[in-house]
Amino acid sequence: MSLVEQYKLIEFADLGDERGNLVVIEGEGMDLPFDIKRVFYIYGSDSTVIRGQHANRETEFLLVNVSGSSKVRVDNGDESAVIELNRPRMGLYLSSMLWKDMYDFSEDSVLLVLASRHYDEKEYIRDYGTYLQVLKEKEFSKSE
Ligand code: TYD
Repeated sequence: MSLVEQYKLIEFADLGDERGNLVVIEGEGMDLPFDIKRVFYIYGSDSTVIRGQHANRETEFLLVNVSGSSKVRVDNGDESAVIELNRPRMGLYLSSMLWKDMYDFSEDSVLLVLASRHYDEKEYIRDYGTYLQVLKEKEFSKSE
């Protein structure tokens, strides 16, 4: 599968009015292709930090910089791309089995992450060499 099919930028509607902005993200086929099982957010990181550096065998994610900005580098073992998240209405959908790095966090960055699965360390691949190996095995089992 090519990288452009493995991630997607989604622009959410602003339901705000004179009282302020309101952005809604609904799961399970509404705004996202998955049901939301887990929410976490990352703040207090800065421009010297690299987070992520892992792939998930099963989990799909949606990332939103609800405040500030950060960059996300996605890599499928073959191609890579860098996406800057800098608007509270801009979501980045990531399919499973993508290697990702999050970095270049602004001081006011709050990176909200919605996930399709509960946390399970066993489905994280934290070594890039292992990630490439798993991709190869998947490719091999498909061609059998
Ligand atoms: P880590 O995967 O390094 O975070 P990031 O993807 O932002 O680089 O997670 C840091 C620690 O928090 C690690 O010990 C695992 C734990 N953790 C959970 O227990 N549950 C979670 O949902 C997440 C994302 C992390």
